[in-house]
Amino acid sequence: MIKIKAQKTESIYGGYFSRTVLIKDWPNQVIRGFTYPFNHLHLGEGIHTKITYVVGPAKIKWNLWMEWKEKRIRANVEAEAGRSGGMPRPEEVKALQAIEHLKRSTAYSGSEVSDLWCFITVTADTRKSLNNAVKKLIHELKTKMQIKKVIQLKKRQHRAFANTLILNNGSNDIIKEYPGRLMDEEAVTAFYPFLNGSITDNRGLYFGHRVADLSVVLQDLTAGEGNKNITVLGASGEGKSTFLKSLCNSAAGDNWKVVIYDVDGEFYEWCQEVGGLWVDLSSHTGRYQDPVKIAKRIGDPREDDARYANAAARTAKLISILAGGLTTEELNALDRALMKCWEDVGIVRDDPSTWENKGASIHTWYAFLKGDQSPEARSLAAKVWRYFEGIHSNMFSHEEEIDFDNEQIIVFHIAQAVNNQADTLTGLAKLTMALDMGIEHSRRERLKGENWSLYVFDEGQRQTKIDLISDVINFFATTVRKYNGVACCATNKTNVLWPETGGSDGGKGLWENSSIKILFWMEESAMNEVAKRADIPKVVFDKLKTLHETKQFIIRTDKGYDVLKLYLPPEELKLYKTRGLKKGN
Ligand SMILES: Nc1ncnc2c1ncn2[C@@H]1O[C@H](COP(=O)(O)OP(=O)(O)O)[C@@H](O)[C@H]1O
Ligand SMILES: [Mg+2]
Repeated sequence: MIKIKAQKTESIYGGYFSRTVLIKDWPNQVIRGFTYPFNHLHLGEGIHTKITYVVGPAKIKWNLWMEWKEKRIRANVEAEAGRSGGMPRPEEVKALQAIEHLKRSTAYSGSEVSDLWCFITVTADTRKSLNNAVKKLIHELKTKMQIKKVIQLKKRQHRAFANTLILNNGSNDIIKEYPGRLMDEEAVTAFYPFLNGSITDNRGLYFGHRVADLSVVLQDLTAGEGNKNITVLGASGEGKSTFLKSLCNSAAGDNWKVVIYDVDGEFYEWCQEVGGLWVDLSSHTGRYQDPVKIAKRIGDPREDDARYANAAARTAKLISILAGGLTTEELNALDRALMKCWEDVGIVRDDPSTWENKGASIHTWYAFLKGDQSPEARSLAAKVWRYFEGIHSNMFSHEEEIDFDNEQIIVFHIAQAVNNQADTLTGLAKLTMALDMGIEHSRRERLKGENWSLYVFDEGQRQTKIDLISDVINFFATTVRKYNGVACCATNKTNVLWPETGGSDGGKGLWENSSIKILFWMEESAMNEVAKRADIPKVVFDKLKTLHETKQFIIRTDKGYDVLKLYLPPEELKLYKTRGLKKGN
């Protein structure tokens, strides 16, 4: 319980001095972003400011009285303007404009009108610095926001302060006494990020229910030209993975292709339930997709003609990772063996009709490499021997036929690669294959032009640390819009988003290229980090601080902010509850 001591000119609580002032005079017109200076007030070292908006339905009604008032002012203004040398009074012109504006917006666009009050509470640790800060505040308001009149409420500090508390025991005497500023909906929105009706689109994927009125919020991720990537931030246990799963579910239901890079096997149950393809890339299971296999034709020459070269590049990349790098000569040996193993089954470079011939594999490639007696072929064979004949020969033991084009949901389980990076290159090699498949898949999907695709990375703080994945996240974030795709990444560590704090390209690319941000509650330090680097109003963080363990989150889109919560049927929630695979899966 905070003890507040009422004083004449300030409240004192917890040893701090604070004064609350009420803004009296607003400029005639405000636009979105108008409150930016509010959220960036620098009144001095150790000075804290809090902005409180109180909004209520306007008392004023567009009635006969307003009608009459408008007519009377208009008559005055017109009479004055019509007189030679006449000059209407500026206040009257201003009033007339305001009335006309309100009439237009309420009568024609169905907008509501509200009364708005804005309190600013300044807190300091001494009375002297409080006085200085308030002086500075008044000056800043005047110069930066054209706010000329501020009511200091000198003798009413206790009540003024109470008016700014959320649980204020209904003490609204101050707002009763001082009329608020009458505004239409649009103007109010310019002040308060959360008041924009709702940010929902008419169609799209389910993002949650709006906490304010429990209306459903959809986002149409296919609309417009810009990216619709999503970054999800929040501390552990706040609901990030649940959000991702719900989004995947919604996307799948809307015929999207969904590709998930799953670190802990969190998506296993969901994947089984919806009949998705579970691609387990844990090294010890020995599953792999053969890079030597040339992809099926999709009927678009841009992709079809490149299939031979793509398979060659894929193979070279995989072998290069396993070999720990290749010399030019070794690369030549790799190519020679590849061409031979293809020719062996009748695949000819210049005849695409032969490209889907069966029989070539990474194993036949290795056999041909061993048959090549040149020194470079022998040195390459020695480098990759352990993956074909040595300790890691089980790496290529079970080929996994993945018919990507016909799968709607694909989950890559990449635990091994992420957890044991230093241990072995096999996990990394498989990861590369999986990531390349994802990229190739997105390219093919785009050319077919049928579906939208969602690429999901949970545990982003771990995934962005691996260079290979980081590059792919960056690729998706910056280019996936062209491929009719959306990238979505969740992280509980915000530092991975900025290079200055140790972030990689993946994190940075995603943060800068995600028009939708989802903010769950996070630790103070993480919130401060975000506040420092992102242009998010202070009121949003103030709200965010109250969302701990509520499963509510703040969504930011180009339309503004809103507070949402997922309302999920119990069976769906149960399905999402799995936290990682049990050992053995
Ligand atoms: N909207 C929600 N309604 C009810 N329970 C939820 C909701 N969102 C998350 N949960 C529950 O909260 C717990 C933590 O959620 P989770 O998504 O795993 O968090 P995170 O991924 O951020 O660590 C889970 O048990 C989950 O079922
Ligand atoms: Mg999680």
